[in-house]
Amino acid sequence: MRKPLVAGNWKLNGTRASIDELVQGLLQGMSQVGETDVAVCPPFVYIDHVRGLLEGSRIDLGSQDVCEEDKGAFTGEVSGPMLRDVGCSYAIVGHSERRSIYGESDELVARKFAAARRNGLTPILCVGETLEEREGGITEEVVARQIDAVLALEGIAAFADAVIAYEPVWAIGTGKTASPEQAQEVHEFIRGRLAGHDEGVAAGIRILYGGSVKGGNAAELFGKPDIDGGLIGGASLVADEFLTICKAAG
Ligand code: PGA
Repeated sequence: MRKPLVAGNWKLNGTRASIDELVQGLLQGMSQVGETDVAVCPPFVYIDHVRGLLEGSRIDLGSQDVCEEDKGAFTGEVSGPMLRDVGCSYAIVGHSERRSIYGESDELVARKFAAARRNGLTPILCVGETLEEREGGITEEVVARQIDAVLALEGIAAFADAVIAYEPVWAIGTGKTASPEQAQEVHEFIRGRLAGHDEGVAAGIRILYGGSVKGGNAAELFGKPDIDGGLIGGASLVADEFLTICKAAG
């Protein structure tokens, strides 16, 4: 049985004051969340502050990115050892906004995945196609290429302690969610592709769905056999909405 995971990706949002309020709201409602892992991924500068707020709670911490190098002359970067030092358990790698806005290649994402793992962070590897790619009928090809880049560098065993998030780019922040059937189809494809390398790893890995998940559509998405939770953007900034999603997963 795979334990569901719901992770909030706060992106470039928040102030100390708004984060205090958000976390307060989450802590108040967590007792009603069932058997599911919950994590939040604040902007780097607030991670340590949020760690303090979460102390003693069952909410884990993650980062939105990680440097592929562990230390040295890489101005502006944040490393895996630093993220571990401030209490992170997860690191998102290859989010579509990093790929499209900051030009991160499949190879760079694979190196970030490796950096997360060697520092004891569970990578949340984001994959997904653009609208153009979906309409061109190459969704599976794109997702396979993104996963294969990591397989080539790290091998299938590395996926035993990783999470994948399928996030169709056309569904992120647009209000357009993939239908549960559309999402399930790709999740099944991803699991099948990993099963071609190792069936046990494929059966155990959590594959999250992300892209306009809300309190109102989460239960239906999470009801699909290969959807093991969600990576939540906009809705993770509203405590009640995020808690409703967490409850739907548990
Ligand atoms: P969204 O973002 O929930 O706002 O669509 C999801 C994500 O980008 O991780």
